[in-house]
Amino acid sequence: MTQSKSTAAPHLQLGSCDYPEHVPPDRWVPYAKQQKELGLSYVRIAEFAWSRMEPRPGEYDWAWLDTAIDAYHAQGLRVVLCTPTPTPPAWLIRAHPEILPIDAQGRVREFGARRQYDFASPIYREHSQRITRAMAERYGEHPAVAGWQTDNEFGCHNTARSYGGASAEAFPVWLEKKYGTLDALNVAWGNVFWSMEYDGWAQIKPPNLTVAEPNPSHVLDFYRFASDMVAEFQAEQVAILRELSPGRFVTHNFMIFEMGFDHYEVAKGLDFVTWDNYPLGMLEFFAPPGSGEDVKTHFARTGQPDLIAFNHDLYRGLLGGKNALGRDGAGTPNGPWVMEQQCGQVNWAPFNPLPADGAVQLWTAQAWAHGADVVSYFRWRAATMAQEVMHSGLLRHDETPDRGFVEVAELDTTQFPVGEVTAKVAVLHDYDSLWLYDEQKHSASLSYWTQTLTYYMALRSVGVDVDVIHADADLSGYAVIVAPAITLVSKERAAHWTAAVEAGAKLVCGPRTAFRTPGGETWADGQFGPLSELVGAKLLQYDSLRPTLSQKVTGGGGDFAAHAWAESYCTQNAETLYSYSGGPLDGQSAVIRNSNVTVIGAHSEKLVGTVLAEVLRGADVTVTPLPDGVRLSRRAGKVLLQNWNPDAVEWNGQTLEAVSFTVLEYGHV
Ligand code: GAL
Repeated sequence: MTQSKSTAAPHLQLGSCDYPEHVPPDRWVPYAKQQKELGLSYVRIAEFAWSRMEPRPGEYDWAWLDTAIDAYHAQGLRVVLCTPTPTPPAWLIRAHPEILPIDAQGRVREFGARRQYDFASPIYREHSQRITRAMAERYGEHPAVAGWQTDNEFGCHNTARSYGGASAEAFPVWLEKKYGTLDALNVAWGNVFWSMEYDGWAQIKPPNLTVAEPNPSHVLDFYRFASDMVAEFQAEQVAILRELSPGRFVTHNFMIFEMGFDHYEVAKGLDFVTWDNYPLGMLEFFAPPGSGEDVKTHFARTGQPDLIAFNHDLYRGLLGGKNALGRDGAGTPNGPWVMEQQCGQVNWAPFNPLPADGAVQLWTAQAWAHGADVVSYFRWRAATMAQEVMHSGLLRHDETPDRGFVEVAELDTTQFPVGEVTAKVAVLHDYDSLWLYDEQKHSASLSYWTQTLTYYMALRSVGVDVDVIHADADLSGYAVIVAPAITLVSKERAAHWTAAVEAGAKLVCGPRTAFRTPGGETWADGQFGPLSELVGAKLLQYDSLRPTLSQKVTGGGGDFAAHAWAESYCTQNAETLYSYSGGPLDGQSAVIRNSNVTVIGAHSEKLVGTVLAEVLRGADVTVTPLPDGVRLSRRAGKVLLQNWNPDAVEWNGQTLEAVSFTVLEYGHV
């Protein structure tokens, strides 16, 4: 099992998440030795260990953590230490039950699991800072400590928002700061509709338990408020860590497809971003667009490659779109990382299949190709107690190596040099658009993620590398910019996109682009509001198609069937590339183009793929049509050719073995 991994050229490094507090102390030294022998460089610890660090109020016990950290240190493992704030202990909650969050049904979320706190709670904020300071004073300059993880997976278990208590009290205060007067708020929210006007700040509550659906502008501001509370909560910890732990990184482990807060805002004070990659659990919850049980079955033991890749690309882009690697010039990994990588089966999906042989290596290789500098497996040893006993680790419950361990032992990480991911195509993303879109989906078949992934997957299926970046991020250098579902477009955003198009980029927009204002209303001059001139058209009609209805679309690339959504345009300067045929939209424009700007109004995976491929070719981006489950990703002068299928595939004159990858030199495919 032992392997030697060259340290000559900087390459992907590995780690694991370990829980010394879950096992007897006599296991700590052997585990650290075994981790080192396996080739791991990092160990992440202590995110849930508050009750052991401070068993009684103000009574700290660091002895055990000192010993555990020393055990890793003695083996040369670098420690990522976490603030333990996802798990406020019983004594704290019972002394201050007002810390507990309230769910959307108005119920208290009780002690007995984790994440039982309201981000806006002043008393919890105090304790969060206190325990962070105590830890940082003790370990801030410990030679083994490479850096810090704040808390754990903000928003996990739907905890970013609390609908009562401290959040309910802080929300009107936040609103007063934003709007200044109630008149301004009433106008901004359109409260005259249904007599929802307020004449006192204290009258405003979170938008839950309303008789009918709440006002979307009210919802949008509540979500922004809750997001600000997450950002503030973290910023308080980061400030303490910066002060007491100089030279160490600070990061947070974000969650797949989490929607409860604005990740760009929360990432701001961090050195780099990490995220937690559970490909099999993810697929049980998110069927890729246009697919069903057949796709879930096909990829049940590997996960669907594009769902995973999208998260890699999204998290790599949170701090600006480029991989931050090598900022110190020494090749020290500085992100992004996968902080928790599935290495066996999970315990939290409706079904929890074992991974296919080779899947752990494939996930690791894909993570590298999409920018990860470190992949850290969750968890070292399977838990023998409590909520997650069904979850795998690298070691089984009985400490024998599990299948993930064997795959990690056999993986040669020197084939994964670190370096830049350079994409010529950007997919734009923004949480305000996500919240607004999903608040008024208007179709049970669509969501912001579904629409965004439809475009993303079309790009991946022709071998194109993609940066997922914020809709207001730097757009320079991109040949093609895709805005699949950016429904909120402010005047500033419109000007930003216009400048990118004027500089030579091609812009492709999906349905509902620029439908809404930053306040959540529609533009009074209709879609595309401030983008109208650039698009050269206006929205005419939108049609929400029930699953049994489809809408024919015809144009230069052939005939297509739109499902779920079809919107049509009244063109001014734009030309019509595809039109609707039959039904209420008969003869109206479905896909339009004004010079370098293309808008696709119909939801159809095939039509989106066809139009995107044509735009890419026109922008000199190489288009390589790939079989289902075969993917290409490029990084640092290498190409990762992947086969995610459970069977071998013949492609490009070669046999790609089932669930496998090959690292090739750039230009070889
Ligand atoms: C993550 C979480 C871990 C563990 C893991 C199980 O979401 O951060 O603490 O619960 O899931 O898959």
